[in-house]
Amino acid sequence: MSEEGYLKRKNDIFTKATHGGFDPEQESTWPLVPSIAVTTSFEQIEPGEHRHFIYTRLKNPTRQVLEKCLAELDNAKYSLCYSSGLGATTAIASILSAGDHIIAGDEMYGGTARLFKEVFGKFKVETTIVDTRDTKNIENAIKSNTKLVWVETPTNPLLKVVDIAKVADIVHKHKDIILVVDNSFMTPYFQQPLNLGADVSMHSLSKYMNGHIDVVMGAISTNDFDLYEKLRYNQHAMGLSPSPFDCYQVNRSLKTLPLRMEHHMKSSIALAKFLEKQPKIEKVIHPGLPSHPQHDLIKKQCFGTSGMISFYIKGGLKETKLFIKSLKLIKFAPSFGGYTTTLLVPSLMTHTTLPEKVKLEYGITDNLIRMTVGFESVDDLIADVSQALEIIK
Ligand SMILES: Cc1ncc(COP(=O)(O)O)c(C=O)c1O
Repeated sequence: MSEEGYLKRKNDIFTKATHGGFDPEQESTWPLVPSIAVTTSFEQIEPGEHRHFIYTRLKNPTRQVLEKCLAELDNAKYSLCYSSGLGATTAIASILSAGDHIIAGDEMYGGTARLFKEVFGKFKVETTIVDTRDTKNIENAIKSNTKLVWVETPTNPLLKVVDIAKVADIVHKHKDIILVVDNSFMTPYFQQPLNLGADVSMHSLSKYMNGHIDVVMGAISTNDFDLYEKLRYNQHAMGLSPSPFDCYQVNRSLKTLPLRMEHHMKSSIALAKFLEKQPKIEKVIHPGLPSHPQHDLIKKQCFGTSGMISFYIKGGLKETKLFIKSLKLIKFAPSFGGYTTTLLVPSLMTHTTLPEKVKLEYGITDNLIRMTVGFESVDDLIADVSQALEIIK
């Protein structure tokens, strides 16, 4: 499946999504669907002797099913789940010490930038921001105290693509630096950062992975045992664990991940092609379009692209607001990766922490709209966009 010319996949990801992490014989009643273990605590044998589980913050059967499924999808030995995507990022940053240095992509999610700079900055962890598309920028930013390189690809909201394998080569010339890829935009269905040399694949599970707009959760996957052990310890120590019910929901959603991602890709490319032809649209950005400057790179490192489109409407904030207000079907809301099509204005919503000058430099202007394409019929989406564009003078 997926479009021509992309990296070829082994289709075992469909089987991994379906069966990963669970076998009916794991439970005494042999259910096809794993149970939700809502218990906080587990009966022990005698003082000092316990069975597999003790207390849900440490380990929980439902969470374990999900973590195993995620590890399979990510082609990883280990996965850990957290109470949010930022919880997962907090966990990764928590293994750093005062005096350590982070290099991060200039268009990373605003919440990640705030966490690194404002929260971990207070603990004397320094962050340098670079355009990670040019690997020389990363090479030049590395210092003797650099411990973490953080990459998001495609970036948010301008969907710039970073060459993960090239970044990994540079990072791994230095023994103590780990490369983390925030894979929330792509999911393991379209992009496998660990296969490309990253040390950690990080997910906001709140997005495509869950896809039903009803859970906030995060996760990491890795093949590095020492790193996993440090993260596992901190997961317990810091109390960043998710609820068993949320784990159940995400695990259920993963069964349809491949089907959903195929649909997101197909519909978003059709809508992006339509938008490209509209005279009231200045520019359309979708890594799956041949007009994207890094279309070849995305084909080289990914199995396809997800359902994200960014586009500039002709005009400014007035036209953007009028367009959004005129939409009847497409909802105006933050986040992405759900079954409904939504859009947002990054300059006023996700990237408010950036100084005005920097936003302009990046091209995050008030006429930039980021859209996440869901499962409505493409014809209905096109009709909705068309009538809203008609209203703009
Ligand atoms: C790319 C990206 N990474 C991480 C996060 C944080 O995830 P969460 O909202 O689950 O904490 C977000 C949230 O929007 C995001 O867009």
